[in-house]
Amino acid sequence: MKNLYRKARKAVKSAAPDLKKPVVPTFSLKYTTLFLYHQRMYEQIKHLPGDIVECGIGQGVTFTFLTTLAYNDPTPRTIWGFDSFEGFPEPTAEDDSIRAPKKGDWRLTSVSEYYKYVTNLGFGDDWTKSNVIFVKGFFEDSLQHYTGDQIAYLHLDVDLYASYVTTLEGLYDKVVPGGVILFDEYMRGMDQIKYPGAKQAIDEFFADKGVSPQRDVHSGKYYVIKPAA
Ligand SMILES: C[S@@+](CC[C@H](N)C(=O)[O-])C[C@H]1O[C@@H](n2cnc3c(N)ncnc32)[C@H](O)[C@@H]1O
Repeated sequence: MKNLYRKARKAVKSAAPDLKKPVVPTFSLKYTTLFLYHQRMYEQIKHLPGDIVECGIGQGVTFTFLTTLAYNDPTPRTIWGFDSFEGFPEPTAEDDSIRAPKKGDWRLTSVSEYYKYVTNLGFGDDWTKSNVIFVKGFFEDSLQHYTGDQIAYLHLDVDLYASYVTTLEGLYDKVVPGGVILFDEYMRGMDQIKYPGAKQAIDEFFADKGVSPQRDVHSGKYYVIKPAA
């Protein structure tokens, strides 16, 4: 365990040495494993052009991981964060589960508070203004405000069936060949029980794409590497 924490600390330090605050909150096992997963996946796109896009900001844990990894990346990239900042929309029948998600769940913070949080971590106002874009709104309306033309890293952490459908349909075509699409919820323990709609939407979407989600053995998370057309 200690080795794992040390590895994560070292990775954060080398990605962003001048940050003021730790980006891996408390270095718990869960977040350490998650940070190291994103670091491994990020390594795969370092040679590719394209933006970093996260749909589903929540409390911002993974968004700050991605910001940290992009901070000293020599390839200039914009980091886009999409969220309603009002929590979930109305779930659909596909989301019925013991978790019983409800409209408004995950309503945690505002864009301005979150922006302040990111700058205070040490990324600074100037860097954040030039590199980070938050788009507030439900994906059905907000994804059209993605004005970049290519995505290298697409992290989807949106829990619900319709949210996975909308984000995949709206952004998959913008992902460059070799780019990664990561799903926070797929076939992983309680996630599948709590969010069955996520797996259903992902499986339906990739059924005709000639590629299926692969499992990262260390974290148990699933991702797709976009094949060449
Ligand atoms: C599990 S949280 C994300 C957690 C986050 N990645 C973290 O590290 O804290 C899911 C987020 O997805 C957002 N969300 C889900 N469906 C959405 C939709 N259709 N439009 C906009 N935001 C949505 C919710 O507002 C919530 O913030």
